[in-house]
Amino acid sequence: MRKKIIAGNWKMYKTIEEAIHFFEEIRGNIYESDKVEALICPPTLYVAPLLAGTLDIPVKIGAQTMHYENEGAFTGEVSPAMLKSIQVPYVIIGHSERREYYNETDETVNKKVQAAFDHGITPIVCVGESLETREANETENFVNDQVAKAFENITADQAKEAVIAYEPVWAIGTGKTATADDANAVCGAIRSKMAELYSEDVAQAVRIQYGGSVKPGNIEELLEKEHIDGALVGGASLDPVSFLQLVEAGA
Ligand code: G3H
Repeated sequence: MRKKIIAGNWKMYKTIEEAIHFFEEIRGNIYESDKVEALICPPTLYVAPLLAGTLDIPVKIGAQTMHYENEGAFTGEVSPAMLKSIQVPYVIIGHSERREYYNETDETVNKKVQAAFDHGITPIVCVGESLETREANETENFVNDQVAKAFENITADQAKEAVIAYEPVWAIGTGKTATADDANAVCGAIRSKMAELYSEDVAQAVRIQYGGSVKPGNIEELLEKEHIDGALVGGASLDPVSFLQLVEAGA
């Protein structure tokens, strides 16, 4: 039985006061569960203080991105060693916004996935197709290719710990969600790809999230599906009440 993972990706939203207010609202209203893990990935600036300030509540704090080198002249970046040094448990890798605006390629995604595992940080590896690719009926080929490239040189023991987020680019922040059946079909294809790359054992262990306009109103239907083990949520994770509802849906 895979533990569900509901992850909020705050992107570039919230002042520190707003972030603190969010956790004040969450505190006392979220409970440890065997069935679901809750995670917030705030802007990098807030990762350390929020980690320190939320040790008493069952919400993990992750990072939205990182470099693959441990140190160097990379202005503005944070390294895997830095995240490790403050015990960050998860890092989102290869989000479509990073691929689109910051020139992340399948190759850099793979380097980052390797670097995350090398530092004991679990990567949330994002894959997903554009509308053009979907309309050309190339979704599964495209997404499976992204998965294969992201996991090059990753061992089976590492791969089974990974989280993969399937996020169709056309569904992100648009209010358009893939139907639960469509999302499940692609998540199932990703699981089959992991079986082909590794083994059935790895494929059954890896957790696959859906992301793209997930909200309290549609999460239950998504989580009922066989291959959907959680959600990577942007907009709806910014509000504490809606984030709590999303986590409860997984419990
Ligand atoms: O990382 C989260 C995704 O980009 C989904 O964002 O829930 O605002 O559509 P959204």
